[in-house]
Amino acid sequence: AIGHLEDQLGRPLTDLRISVTDRCNFRCSYCMPKEVFDKDYKYLPHSALLSFEEITRLARLFTAHGVRKIRLTGGEPLLRKNIEVLVEQLAQLRTVDGAPLDLTLTTNGSLLTRKASALKVAGLQRVTVSLDGLDDTVFRHMNDVDFPVADVLAGIDAAHAAGLGPIKVNMVVKRGTNEQEILPMARHFRHTGVVLRFIEYMDVGATNGWRMDEVMPSAEVVALIAREFPLRPLEASAPGETAQRWAYADGGGEIGVISSVTQAFCHDCSRARLSTEGQLYTCLFASHGHDLRPLLRGGADDTQVLSAIGHIWQGRADRYSELRAMRDPEQGTDAGAARRVEMSYIGG
Ligand code: GTP
Ligand code: 5AD
Ligand code: SF4
Ligand code: SF4
Repeated sequence: AIGHLEDQLGRPLTDLRISVTDRCNFRCSYCMPKEVFDKDYKYLPHSALLSFEEITRLARLFTAHGVRKIRLTGGEPLLRKNIEVLVEQLAQLRTVDGAPLDLTLTTNGSLLTRKASALKVAGLQRVTVSLDGLDDTVFRHMNDVDFPVADVLAGIDAAHAAGLGPIKVNMVVKRGTNEQEILPMARHFRHTGVVLRFIEYMDVGATNGWRMDEVMPSAEVVALIAREFPLRPLEASAPGETAQRWAYADGGGEIGVISSVTQAFCHDCSRARLSTEGQLYTCLFASHGHDLRPLLRGGADDTQVLSAIGHIWQGRADRYSELRAMRDPEQGTDAGAARRVEMSYIGG
């Protein structure tokens, strides 16, 4: 039956995150540390990448299974050549009930001044921009390629001017690295319409050297902000949403916290992830995916691909963050960590 798949824990498939490149022009230490992602690092060869036609075909089949939201990620998705052409193709797709998809993209913002209006024209609805601080020195240190914060802020303005809103800004908080940027970020984005979200530093991938003592729990972030600007909780805007939402009591807008370490949200996780080369992952922390490319390149028809996707989702039992929360935090990450895929490959 097409339309309403459920996995082993009764969770539907409503979101698809598509990674369009495993490359990035930043080297954030929590994602692509320089020591690992150096000049000898082997990125995917061009022939391994799914073409735009292959991606769009898969996306269409995922919508037949109930997907209503598609997010392009990377690496840095705006590094993929002619990305607006893919956006244009995806923008034509419809949900099972004939509505347009929620089509969005997560970017580091470095190329937005150049690309924002073309993306809007192609049919992108909104963007989420990663930004880990306002202080130029802190920001240059965190992206580790000396990229100036002013250029990302200009990218956010360009996205706003192009109508790519409501814009979200993601700040990964690392204790001891950028926690002093929380209040300046909150002050900066209040009353701008931008939704600022604070993300707990996660133990994703195998290279970032994650430690529990570098995680700042979202509850602390909320308490810190509420001391200066009173907050009241908001209802989730969709089931399975990553962020808990808070509103400034004075009407300054809303913020969010994404607490995958201290308050796992696996119980209604409805997200599938498609890697740049066509591996389907049913969890951000999975150690292996399901290779769809042989089907695509071996002449499988739509019914066959649909049923393969359906079987993979129906077999899904992942709830990594919930299981990690049950372990002793002092033990750090789990024994399977060495095999986990990198976030830059699987797309956040
Ligand atoms: P919106 O739909 O705009 O709310 O976006 P989103 O929060 O689903 O996606 P975004 O790319 O902005 O990711 C925000 C943070 O949440 C990143 O750190 C992601 O890695 C993390 N994240 C997104 N989905 C999941 C998930 O399924 N599990 C976990 N553990 N983290 C996730
Ligand atoms: N923990 C939390 N968030 C991360 N991101 C990348 N790596 C990590 C990590 N280890 C964030 C990026 C981007 C989003 C897709 O994921 O900053 O905003
Ligand atoms: Fe690039 Fe985003 Fe990873 Fe930073 S977090 S290295 S910007 S993909
Ligand atoms: Fe979903 Fe896995 Fe994240 Fe849990 S850890 S919310 S199952 S992607």
